[in-house]
Amino acid sequence: MFESLQPMPADAILGLIVEHRNDPRPEKIDLGVGVYRDASGQTPVPDTVKQAEKRLLATQSSKAYIGTAGDALFNASMQALTFDAAAPDDRLITIQTPGGSGSLRVAAGIVLRAKENPTVWVSTPTWANHEPLLGGAGMTLKEYPYYDRHGHVIQIDAMLETLRAAPKGDLVLFHACCHNPSGLDPSVEQWRAITDVLLERELVPFIDLAYQGFAKNLDDDAFAIRHMASHLPEMIVTSSCSKNFGLYRDRVGTLSVLVASAATVPILASQLSHYVRTLYSMPPDHGAAIVSIILNDDDLRAQWIGEVSEMRDRIHDMRALLSDALKAKAPDHDFSHLLRANGMFCFLGVTAEQVARLKKDYGIYMVDSSRINVAGITAENVDYLASSIAAVL
Ligand SMILES: Cc1ncc(COP(=O)(O)O)c(C=O)c1O
Repeated sequence: MFESLQPMPADAILGLIVEHRNDPRPEKIDLGVGVYRDASGQTPVPDTVKQAEKRLLATQSSKAYIGTAGDALFNASMQALTFDAAAPDDRLITIQTPGGSGSLRVAAGIVLRAKENPTVWVSTPTWANHEPLLGGAGMTLKEYPYYDRHGHVIQIDAMLETLRAAPKGDLVLFHACCHNPSGLDPSVEQWRAITDVLLERELVPFIDLAYQGFAKNLDDDAFAIRHMASHLPEMIVTSSCSKNFGLYRDRVGTLSVLVASAATVPILASQLSHYVRTLYSMPPDHGAAIVSIILNDDDLRAQWIGEVSEMRDRIHDMRALLSDALKAKAPDHDFSHLLRANGMFCFLGVTAEQVARLKKDYGIYMVDSSRINVAGITAENVDYLASSIAAVL
C-alpha cells in the first residue's frame, strides 16, 4: 500500500541544519535553527532544570498513567504564570500538552468540534508551522498584513482594517511576544487597539505564547493575553516551555481556553479529554513535572527567572553587537530595525540571492527570507558575520 506515497519536500530549516553540519569550514555560522544558544554556541540544559530533574528522580514513586489533561499542579502553575489574575478562574480551563505544537493541534481540533468551517486569520508572515498545524487539522487560514518588509515596521493600520472586515466569530492568531519570524511586537497601545477591534467585531483571539520572558520580562510578555482575557469573553492560548525552560525535546506546553460562560467549562473539559484520547491519549509527563517543581519552589523559581533574564540579555546584547558591527562595516545601509526586534528572530533584510551568497561564499546559514536567529551570534563570530554581510550587499 505504501508504494502509492510520493516523497514530501524537505523541511527548509531541517535541511539547513544538515547542510551546516556537513560544511567543513571552521568559520561557518548557523543562524537558521530556532533554538537558544549560549556564548559557547551550546543549547544548555538550565541549572534549575538539572536540579528539579534530580529531585524528581529521587522522589517520583510511580510512572503510572497521568490522565488526558496532564498534571493538575503543573496546569495551575502554568495558568498563573500566563494569566496571573487577569482571567476569571471559573471560565478558564488549562490542560498539559506535548509542547506548543501539540497545543496548537489540540486547539485546532477542539475549535473544529465547536464550529463548522472555522477560519483563523494569521499574520503575514507567521511561524512556518502554523499553516501545517492549523490548516492540516482542517481550519481555513486567511492572512492579515503584519510586517512591512521595506520599512521594517508593523502595518498596524492595514492590520486593523483587515480585522475590522473579518466576519464575526472568526479566530485571529497572534504571537504574544517575540513574533516569529519578524521579532516585531505590537506596543501596549497597539494591543489595546487590537483588543477593541476584536471586541467590536466579535472575533476570538488565539494567542501563541512560545517565548514568555524573552522580550521584556515574564509579566510584560503576557500583557496581550492578560489584557484580552480581562476584556473579551473567549480566547485560546497555547504556550510552550521549549525555549524559556530549555525543554525542547521533552515536549512541554499548555492549552488554555477562556469560555464565555462558566457552565461551558465542564463540557469543554470532557470534549478536550475525549479529543486528546483520540490523538495521543496523554501528554508526556517528565518535562512538565520538572516545570512544576521549579514553579512551586521559591528558590528554584527565583533562579529560573534569573536564567530567563540571562538568555534574554544575551540575545539583546548579540543584536546590539551585530547592529554596531554592521554600522561600522556597511555604513551606507540602515540596519536599525534589528534593534527594534524582540526575542531570537528578526529579518536581516537582505535578498534571497544575498542569503544564497552568504551560504555559498561564507558558510553563513539562514532561511531564504533572511530570518536570522540572533542567538547564533557570539562575540567571536560577529565581526566575520558583519564583514560577510557587508560583502554581499
Ligand atoms: C511561534 C512558535 N510557536 C510555537 C512553537 C512551538 O514550540 P514547541 O512545539 O517546541 O513547544 C514555536 C517553536 O519554535 C514557535 O516559534
